[in-house]
Amino acid sequence: MPPFDPALRDAATLVEARLAAILAKEPDRGSPPRLIDAMRHAVLGGGKRFRPFLVLESAQLFGVSPQAAIDAAAAIECIHCYSLVHDDMPAMDNDELRRGRPTVWKAFGEWSAILVGDGLQALAFELVSAPSAHSDPAVRAELVHTLAIASGSPGMVGGQALDLEAENSLPASVADVAHITRLQSMKTGALIRAACEMGAIAGQASPDQRAALVRYGEALGVAFQISDDLLDAEGSAADVGKATGKDAAAGKATLVSLLGIADARRHLDTTVQAAVDALAPFGAKADVLREAARFMGRRDS
Ligand code: IPE
Ligand code: IPE
Ligand code: MG
Ligand code: MG
Ligand code: MG
Repeated sequence: MPPFDPALRDAATLVEARLAAILAKEPDRGSPPRLIDAMRHAVLGGGKRFRPFLVLESAQLFGVSPQAAIDAAAAIECIHCYSLVHDDMPAMDNDELRRGRPTVWKAFGEWSAILVGDGLQALAFELVSAPSAHSDPAVRAELVHTLAIASGSPGMVGGQALDLEAENSLPASVADVAHITRLQSMKTGALIRAACEMGAIAGQASPDQRAALVRYGEALGVAFQISDDLLDAEGSAADVGKATGKDAAAGKATLVSLLGIADARRHLDTTVQAAVDALAPFGAKADVLREAARFMGRRDS
């Protein structure tokens, strides 16, 4: 068993418990019961919790305990889950299976899925701006600022727009490696990069340390999406928990469609190495993060 797996499992357990506790308070705040059910469906009971793991592990480099960074970690998972709920909707990727279960729109209907995403986005910013996210208000403001940029049009939302614009429409001369890498670094990379940066912010890292974690997160995010695209091409729905073979059918612009599986895998290996190299300043303390990057080359879910 690689050392990375237990670390990811521990983070997932902690985050799952925190998210469950947060959502358990919703009835007392007057949120409508059916909307709460749909939010719980979107957030609980599945998912690798990779982004929260990155927040906790990056913060730990600076001596911040997982308990102290948990709300920043839960916040980024709420943004991620909202992005998945909207990504699966008929107007976007039109998927019916997510994390081995029906997608939110399939189980609760389309308007509920839109509102679940909206509600989770607001909840994320509530969590990361609350005193429990960090005792220093200046640190909280920086966490909010970083998460906002990564979530919005310069980040995940912008990348989703490029992804959908490219579907079946861009000639190969436009959907080249540089364009696909930019698209992926926005739609997936931005949140993964922000997860690492938020760990650095919570740990009040030096500018150099923070820049190193941003470089790591940037490469890791692109690697993560290439491995997701490889899983779509080569994996089975039973292993991955979502339909596979859909990117080719939808004409998605991916490195797999542009370069083929072997070259996409080579590109993945180079990107993983760039992520590992970025961690040099942290020495052995960053071994779990190094292992997380290497895991991209061999993950099966
Ligand atoms: C899937 O993300 C969407 C992408 C950005 C590729 P994950 O593979 O992290 O999905 P979960 O959270 O584990 O379900
Ligand atoms: C989704 O990319 C990225 C998001 C911002 C949600 P994909 O569309 O490839 O993710 P999956 O394969 O549906 O999980
Ligand atoms: Mg998509
Ligand atoms: Mg999708
Ligand atoms: Mg995919």
